[in-house]
Amino acid sequence: MVNSLSSKIVTKTKRALILVVPLVSLVLGFTVSSRTKDPSPPLSSWKATPPHSRIEDSNFRTRAPTQNAIPPKLEGCISCHGQIEPMHKYGTTETLEKLKEGKDAVGLTCTTCHGGNPVPRKTSDDPKEIERVKNEAHVRARFPDEWRRDGKSTGANPERSNTLLARESWQFVRFVNPGDLRVAAKTCGGSACHELESKNVARSMMTHGAMLWGAALYNNGSFPHKDPRFGESYSETGAPQTLIQNPEPTAEDRRTKGLLTFLDPIPRWEISQPGNVLRVFERGGKRRLEVGLPDKDEDPGKPDKGLSARGFGSAQRTDPVVLGLQKTRLLDPTLNFLGTNDHPGDYRSSGCTACHVIYANDRDPSHSAFYNSAGNLGQSKTADTNISKYDSGHPIKHQFTSQIPTSQCMVCHMHPGTNMVATYLGMTWWDNESDDSIYTTSQVGKGGLPPLSDDAKQLALKRFTY
Ligand code: HEC
Ligand code: HEC
Ligand code: HEC
Ligand code: HEC
Repeated sequence: MVNSLSSKIVTKTKRALILVVPLVSLVLGFTVSSRTKDPSPPLSSWKATPPHSRIEDSNFRTRAPTQNAIPPKLEGCISCHGQIEPMHKYGTTETLEKLKEGKDAVGLTCTTCHGGNPVPRKTSDDPKEIERVKNEAHVRARFPDEWRRDGKSTGANPERSNTLLARESWQFVRFVNPGDLRVAAKTCGGSACHELESKNVARSMMTHGAMLWGAALYNNGSFPHKDPRFGESYSETGAPQTLIQNPEPTAEDRRTKGLLTFLDPIPRWEISQPGNVLRVFERGGKRRLEVGLPDKDEDPGKPDKGLSARGFGSAQRTDPVVLGLQKTRLLDPTLNFLGTNDHPGDYRSSGCTACHVIYANDRDPSHSAFYNSAGNLGQSKTADTNISKYDSGHPIKHQFTSQIPTSQCMVCHMHPGTNMVATYLGMTWWDNESDDSIYTTSQVGKGGLPPLSDDAKQLALKRFTY
């Protein structure tokens, strides 16, 4: 099941656009503030974590990659997180169940991926002291309140964080998720490890979503060309950016392979224009309403909404489709941001992590294989004692895998606009987002994929463990 899926995605990745990413001045509303507030040091300095001035530990100062004779001193992270699983379990030479000298199976320490300060270490069990050391070691959020879940800071993914990741500092995004696409070119793609994947994934339609933007704008008459022209992509600073194909594809490539020349960020809705200006004469527009101001006197089911009689951009004389695409974030399941993390079927992280680090979403082994026993509440089963086993919004374990269950794809692919895995499961697009279950019960077993037999379930469970 997983194999046939993966071959599909590999082909897709090969076909994916190869685009380069110059910065562009077009900025969507939601990132303006993050740009102006951004106090981040230049990204070229990212390798120099921790800042050298803060390294007081002599072993750190003298440890150079060539000096094998000196046994590596454990990073301070290990003094608290010593039980955590190695992120890479499989290395080129060894397979690790537990950390080896604070490193994973490809020899990466915590701060190589996460950043943060490796010097401070836990010296007492006093909760106040632990909190103090932790704050020194961890990278601080720019918007700590928005990272709370149920009022607490537990490291769990917050609920409905929307575009929060684009507003945070590069350093913090890297700290909470080294696989996020804002940082992946430097973390996963750094040292030539997964350079190709990082480039391709950042330009994949699962990231830019151009198919849906294109269909919505063209089909509703907002934009005259059938080839997608707009897509979502964010630079390292979190600003929207244009993707440009280099070298420029030939007309033949565009026609036969569907290659695109470029994708722009979707324009701000205030400067968008209605497809047909004469729509201002449509009946029904009793009064001109301001966007976002509800009117309680409106007749139920007969909105007074109409387009403005004044100039473009005034009142509602903007393009309703652009407005809808931006304000409702109609296509929210892209790799740029976290899932909503608020109900079974939507617990996930962003970027590479969205697929390669498994979250518990589904109890049915025909969707989630052996991960089913972790439940569907996004709870953790990590050996790390710092992570709550009851809070939702954590990965099952601190471990990459290429054994990606269908349920992990389904987290995005049940959303409107991404119906591909639904059809793979033998279902049609039944309802946008059903209330209690992402797989509507009426479909399971009726023309859809039959649930696994008890024997098959036993086999699946025996064969693998996570
Ligand atoms: C290969 C890169 C990599 C390395 C090395 C690595 N991590 Fe992680 N870590 C990640 C990724 C990716 C995540 C998943 C983030 C997410 O789910 O959003 C993560 C998540 C975490 C979490 C949150 C887990 C949870 O349940 O919410 C903790 C804590 C953590 N890492 C600590 C560490 C420590 C301590 C080390 C060193 C022993 C370490 N990491 C090494 C990549 C790495
Ligand atoms: C003094 C103990 C302590 C040290 C040292 C420490 N951590 Fe943590 N860490 C915690 C605790 C406790 C949590 C659980 C969440 C919380 O309480 O903030 C946590 C959570 C995390 C998370 C989850 C995301 C988040 O924002 O909470 C990551 C990632 C993480 N630690 C990485 C690291 C890395 C990397 C280092 C070393 C640079 C490190 N930690 C050092 C105690 C520590
Ligand atoms: C949409 C889901 C998805 C995303 C996002 C994704 N991958 Fe993958 N990746 C896969 C699948 C599926 C496979 C194939 C697994 C298999 O062969 O069984 C794979 C395979 C891989 C492999 C080969 C693993 C092996 O076992 O040899 C690497 C390395 C990899 N991905 C790196 C990345 C990196 C780096 C990123 C982020 C830049 C990323 N992937 C993002 C789905 C994804
Ligand atoms: C972060 C959300 C997300 C995840 C996770 C995800 N996808 Fe996607 N995927 C998308 C989006 C967005 C598109 C864009 C096309 C669309 O709108 O249908 C897409 C498109 C695709 C397409 C192309 C569809 C077409 O019509 O050509 C395939 C195939 C696909 N995904 C397979 C997978 C598989 C397999 C997995 C799991 C390994 C997966 N996806 C995980 C968001 C996601």
